[in-house]
Amino acid sequence: MSLQSMGAAAGATEVERRISELAPWFHNLHLPDGSQTAPDHPLGDFPAFKWNEIESSLPEDLSGWSVLDIGCNAGFYSFELARRGGRVLGIDHDEHYLTQAGWAAEVLGLQERTEFRRMGVYELAHLDASFDLVIFMGVLYHLRHPLLALDIVAEKVDRTLVFQTLTMPGNEVIAPPEDVTLDERDILLRAGWPKMAFIEHALAGDPTNWWAPDVACVEAMLRSSGLHIEASPAHEIYLCSPCGNPLESRRHSAEVDAATNRSASGR
Ligand SMILES: C[S@@+](CC[C@H](N)C(=O)[O-])C[C@H]1O[C@@H](n2cnc3c(N)ncnc32)[C@H](O)[C@@H]1O
Repeated sequence: MSLQSMGAAAGATEVERRISELAPWFHNLHLPDGSQTAPDHPLGDFPAFKWNEIESSLPEDLSGWSVLDIGCNAGFYSFELARRGGRVLGIDHDEHYLTQAGWAAEVLGLQERTEFRRMGVYELAHLDASFDLVIFMGVLYHLRHPLLALDIVAEKVDRTLVFQTLTMPGNEVIAPPEDVTLDERDILLRAGWPKMAFIEHALAGDPTNWWAPDVACVEAMLRSSGLHIEASPAHEIYLCSPCGNPLESRRHSAEVDAATNRSASGR
């Protein structure tokens, strides 16, 4: 630590000292004493500006609602939903972010309504619970097996899924035909046919960015996982409900069972 930063640390409050100890932060949390965890975030006041795009689409009173926040990071969405009365389980596979979330829950006085657990998205296949509201934002493109994850996540949604992913350019969407003959495969190259670009090395310097679907692909994958798209309140964000037909929404569970070593009886 440099003399300058030691001096700064000496004058810092306990909250500021802890923020600095728990750095780096991806979520800019606004804490009761006025301090922020990532005030210089390159994306701006993140994810507050994203929350502003979706918050009016969600019930103001979530009393009695169970909420699952997948890839919760430092808990920004978990805290907003707990403030509305939801009982929130936040999961993430990164212990560093979970430590941030656990500390912030105490500082915000929300530890009674939030629980943070180390868990990977595929492990949800073994969680014997479903949730009124599921937040699955900013995670899909980090996964090597996105459709498997989406099938698992879809099983957890009782009422509403809020989904967000990085996309690739291209807003055109064509209605998918019932079938394509082998001779008609040129249609797969048309703009609007669902496409997802594989990133072998890195995107934006991040080697965990594996996939970038276009809008047509996002919408097709959501439907194919048994979800009904209710609305798209902002670019790359979708509000979905489970498909009314339980048989249809469970149609991929045999594959999920096999991929996650889950026995059918354990579901
Ligand atoms: C881009 S951040 C998004 C955070 C937050 N959901 C948001 O939208 O602001 C991705 C988060 O997902 C977590 N994550 C990535 N892969 C995961 C996995 N397989 N299981 C659980 N969490 C994962 C990361 O640790 C990170 O906290």
